[in-house]
Amino acid sequence: MTKEILDAENNFAFMYKKHKEVLEKVDQLNDTLTNLRYEGKVHIGRNMNDIEKVLSFFNEDLLPHVKLDEMVFTFVGTHVPKLESVIRLLQAEHKEMVVNIEVFSYLFRELENEKNESKRMEAVEKLRDKGTYLIYLMRNHIQAESEGVYKVIDRELRPEEKKTLFKMMREFKSS
Ligand SMILES: [Fe+2]
Ligand SMILES: [Fe+2]
Repeated sequence: MTKEILDAENNFAFMYKKHKEVLEKVDQLNDTLTNLRYEGKVHIGRNMNDIEKVLSFFNEDLLPHVKLDEMVFTFVGTHVPKLESVIRLLQAEHKEMVVNIEVFSYLFRELENEKNESKRMEAVEKLRDKGTYLIYLMRNHIQAESEGVYKVIDRELRPEEKKTLFKMMREFKSS
């Protein structure tokens, strides 16, 4: 194994780690949305609290990661032309994710403020629908990005290009 490959693995490790974390949160959200529906009022406080935590993770961890992805895509787009179309697709998914996280947060606040029991059930269903879509979107996106882009970058970029990219990533990370 060359020095370059080792460096590449080290520098991408935290990107993969973040993906793993996102997938864990997404699984958790999926379970909580099911609980919210079937446990009714019994554990409402705990379930709402769990969703709140996932939302904070989305805002504080996922959204900055999306920005980092965008920076990597901009760099890679000019260096690995064959990735251009998959990158365009993933960029569109980023936008879709950001918008849907916003809508999900809005529906969550609506549910929080709903006092009427039958309306509350409707609000739970709406939140679950939006959540299910968001979960589907994120799982697919992460799979496509890990397999279709990160791996290809690692394979196709020249050592010098990787060095430049990783330097940009590190600087972005600490900024
Ligand atoms: Fe992404
Ligand atoms: Fe990513």
